[in-house]
Amino acid sequence: MTQRPAIVLVRGDITEQRADAIVNAANTSLLGGGGVDGAIHRAGGPEILAACRALRASHYGKGLPTGQAVATTAGKLAADHVIHTPGPVWSREHDRGELLASCYRESLRVAMELGARTVAFPAISTGIYGWPMDDAARIAVRAVRKSAAPPVTEVRFVLFDEYAYEEFAAALRATT
Ligand code: AR6
Repeated sequence: MTQRPAIVLVRGDITEQRADAIVNAANTSLLGGGGVDGAIHRAGGPEILAACRALRASHYGKGLPTGQAVATTAGKLAADHVIHTPGPVWSREHDRGELLASCYRESLRVAMELGARTVAFPAISTGIYGWPMDDAARIAVRAVRKSAAPPVTEVRFVLFDEYAYEEFAAALRATT
């Protein structure tokens, strides 16, 4: 039987992770922003933005739809690839959980196509996009458990603060 990929939690800054691919909580423009997106572009250098602009010109004239994912170079980062995925903005009125799950699923699909073994995710949509951490953590852990497969051996959630770490740890315990 094939071994299920490990799910690992770390506290830290995703731009400092050594992984085959790191995931960017982007926006549909792919042209940068604040939060994780800003940090990745700052640390990775202009090569990443140039690759994003090329993608906009070639494939995504109107931007990358929410819940989809696309890879670029990781520029100066220690990772080999950055996988950009625009998360949904949290809404009390509309359940956008499926779109958030899709960010994880599609990012993993792209990572697997690239042959990535280790993939690092931030807590998508839980910052500027306002998603409650406990719910986002449940959706993230469930989606990763369902979709991660070889060649991926490790999926790492990189949580910026203690609160996010605790919520992801609780979600992981609840779904084991
Ligand atoms: N490493 C790991 N986690 C981080 C880091 C970091 N360096 N920086 C922030 N976080 P956010 P979103 C955490 O706002 O909610 C951008 O402008 C943060 O504490 O980066 O998906 C994009 O262009 C939070 O828990 O992403 C979009 O417009 C989580 O990462 C919009 O923000 C996600 O926060 C996307 O918003």
